[in-house]
Amino acid sequence: MNNFVYYCPVKVYFGEGGVQKHLPEELAKVGNTVMLAYGGGSVKRSGLYDELVSLLAQAGKKVVDFGGIMSNPTYAKVLEGARIVKQENVDFILAVGGGSVMDCVKCIAAAAKAPKDLWEMEIEDHVIAREGVPYGAIVTLSGTGSEMDNGAGITNEEKNRKGNLPGTYAEFAILDPGYLRTVPKKQMMACAFDNLSHCMETYFGRGTGVMDRMNEALMHDIVENIRAYLKDPQNMETLGNLMWDSSLVQTFLFNMGKPGDFQCHAIEHQMCAYTGCNHGMTLAVIHPSYYRHIVSDAPEKFARFGKTVFDLNPAGKTEMELAGEAVEALADFIQEIGLDSSFTQLGLDVNEEILRKVADTCGLSGGNVRKLEREEVFELLKEVM
Ligand code: NZQ
Ligand code: ZN
Repeated sequence: MNNFVYYCPVKVYFGEGGVQKHLPEELAKVGNTVMLAYGGGSVKRSGLYDELVSLLAQAGKKVVDFGGIMSNPTYAKVLEGARIVKQENVDFILAVGGGSVMDCVKCIAAAAKAPKDLWEMEIEDHVIAREGVPYGAIVTLSGTGSEMDNGAGITNEEKNRKGNLPGTYAEFAILDPGYLRTVPKKQMMACAFDNLSHCMETYFGRGTGVMDRMNEALMHDIVENIRAYLKDPQNMETLGNLMWDSSLVQTFLFNMGKPGDFQCHAIEHQMCAYTGCNHGMTLAVIHPSYYRHIVSDAPEKFARFGKTVFDLNPAGKTEMELAGEAVEALADFIQEIGLDSSFTQLGLDVNEEILRKVADTCGLSGGNVRKLEREEVFELLKEVM
């Protein structure tokens, strides 16, 4: 096992009614001016926005409204938010939404305190932000686990690049699985698949240990609860499991002591930079194709994955046969849950020129079982065009 430092400072309030029960006590600890940050309107339709405005008024706060955070947030939106935070002397930010809102807010928080342009400081000078305006997260869509970490996927449109731009950690996260009831089914599946993707990207990194045993249990639970969700989408037990699974993964407990793979995420991020694609849905297209390429480099790990996550029966099969079956079990599962298996099915307007750009600009993992050449990335993308 590699050496590591483990740090996960986010206080979690889990359960229905968490906002009414716990937000007032958290608001009592923060300054007078609070930015209310949210996405394209789901929080207004659900009534959560009005509930929050009322709680903020009861707490005597001045509210700075910051809506319109788009899926796959842009760096321009981060800078807009940071400018307003400075202009209005914002003391605290409430991030209300899914991964996009939380990612944007953690970077707004960091950018508002950074001594220079955050992108330049972190991506070009490799200096990570240490301080930020404090913020809390109210999670309305789970799958990215963004509430537990300081990472953020931010698209820099000028540079045609979606980068992992670190922000700061939340002071607290309120996880009410009831909010998931209004999420459209396909989006819910995309998010749950993103969660499974994070597990697999960690599991198939080199090395193994107790973290892989825990990861197997988690992956099994995600698969089981996705199936349960499809039978009964409003079941609170199922929604609660899916929500907590998502947060657990991004505590990074399962990543410690081994390098992660994250090749699929690196490819997806550049797909997003060129097409604006949906994160989880695009990962579902990329994973099986990538695994068909690397399965023979780690047959024992893929065979173990098949047995522990998809309950495959190893009897009478060679390790390599079972490994191949595991990859196809994953591909079948993606179809079973209504996600797409090619970029065309997904409705993305891609051609070989775009795939070539993605392959030429994506990060190449150093933690996977075999490092890919750019040509092979292009091939595996073409295979699912
Ligand atoms: O914008 P609104 O109107 O709120 O609608 C959103 C959005 O259209 C909607 N939604 C959210 N909560 C809802 C709801 N609809 C109905 N009911 C609710 N309760 O869902 C849509 C998608 O939201 P978004 O936040 O974009 O999705 P997700 O949570 O999948 O986040 C994706 C972003 O997270 C980044 C991705 O790259 C992508 O930019 N990631 C962040 C990570 C992290 N910080 O650790 C890790 C991930 O790998 C990922 O890269
Ligand atoms: Zn992800």
